[in-house]
Amino acid sequence: MSNVKVCVRFRPLSSRERRICGDDICFDRLDEESFVFKDEKGEDTTFCFDRVFYQDAKQRDLYEFLAMSIVQDTVNGINGTIITYGQTGAGKTYSLEGPGILEFDECRKGLLPRVIDGLFECLKSSTDMSAHTIKISMVEIYMERVRDLLDVSKDNLQIREGKGQGIYLSGATEVSISDLTEAIALINRGIANKAVGSTQMNVTSSRSHCLYTLSVQYESAVDGKVKSGKLMLVDLAGSEKVEKTGAEGKVLEEAKTINKSLSALGNVINALTTGKRSHIPYRSSKLTRILEDSLGGNSRTALLCCCSPSSSNTLESMSTLRFGTRAKLIKPQRQEEIFEEVSNGISQEEDLVDADLSTAQGTIPQLEIQQVILDPVSLHQTFKELRNEMIRMNEALRGILQTQRRTLETGRTTLQWLQGINSAAFIVCIFVILNMAKVFLLH
Ligand SMILES: Nc1ncnc2c1ncn2[C@@H]1O[C@H](COP(=O)(O)OP(=O)(O)O)[C@@H](O)[C@H]1O
Ligand SMILES: [Mg+2]
Repeated sequence: MSNVKVCVRFRPLSSRERRICGDDICFDRLDEESFVFKDEKGEDTTFCFDRVFYQDAKQRDLYEFLAMSIVQDTVNGINGTIITYGQTGAGKTYSLEGPGILEFDECRKGLLPRVIDGLFECLKSSTDMSAHTIKISMVEIYMERVRDLLDVSKDNLQIREGKGQGIYLSGATEVSISDLTEAIALINRGIANKAVGSTQMNVTSSRSHCLYTLSVQYESAVDGKVKSGKLMLVDLAGSEKVEKTGAEGKVLEEAKTINKSLSALGNVINALTTGKRSHIPYRSSKLTRILEDSLGGNSRTALLCCCSPSSSNTLESMSTLRFGTRAKLIKPQRQEEIFEEVSNGISQEEDLVDADLSTAQGTIPQLEIQQVILDPVSLHQTFKELRNEMIRMNEALRGILQTQRRTLETGRTTLQWLQGINSAAFIVCIFVILNMAKVFLLH
């Protein structure tokens, strides 16, 4: 089972492509998961993905298939990542933001506003929480530096790894948002700070990888514990060949850096799929380091491979499709670690429960562990729920013990009180007998 949900999207032909190649398109649609691709030599290759979104696909379909379950999981504390990949002009930003981030048209708005809306909806409809916050941060990786798009004075953020926190960007500005309108205004401000350049593929093509992070935190109404989840949306810079963009000077340097980090991403994916996992080169670029948790199996990850449908772009589309095929082969890397961490947690809880059980001489209902679920993230979630269940039982047992202890104390106090009464009654009796003896002797 793949760790990454991989989808392909072919956007409609652009007017430029129609001018160059007419209505010629590079694939034949088979069904909603597969198509036959015609390469530049006219040879056919059949590709198969989790879902293929053709030119007529709706933005809403994309959200429902690719992002909706990730949004729900984020609210349940499982981190998620959505990545768009493809050559410049293939539709990455359109898929994420829509024709513009300020686009409020229900049909055309992109994944990002839908995801934010979805998070608010999930939090609102949950009866299990007492308070919640959603924070947003926005950074770009430009020329191997991580720049804060919400505070441009922070132009070289450091990547760190924290225990229980995973990989994070130290000092990145995080702004709390209370609704979608507020979030869009903020994102619009951040987008204005992005590094863009003009190439022959796209008038304002992004020269950087742009990363949006939505952090959700809420307090559980059941146990008062604070839970959190993180959802990252990544709009990668274009993956096209340098020659095609007509790049020179600074733009050429940018293109080289972009290609270097995208090949680092390809190398990480290759290493994750070849079975030799002793060394995965996550540290070979900022992008791969930031995506380490997403690719390594600690997150729900979806990859959208965006392609032009035109025969004039077959080389780039083929390379994007190969990248997607490779990514589909990624197997969860940290399965064993997840098992270890979860079973350690469970054994500690078991010890506690055992100790309380022997004191209380109570019984504990047998937990039924269901069929092994092979998906490690679900497995992790199942184990987490089991552990929480054990913690709840442990607390219930503690409550019973305390009640018993209190009953015992009350019994002891009553006994002492009765003993007191007993002694007093005994003294009174002796006194009465002595008095009676005195009276009898006197007579
Ligand atoms: N699915 C689509 N439907 C309509 N227009 C699209 C679609 N995808 C992309 N476009 C248009 O194609 C152009 C390039 O898309 P863009 O998302 O900016 O590419 P990228 O981010 O991959 O460089 C834009 O003008 C965009 O509006
Ligand atoms: Mg773009």
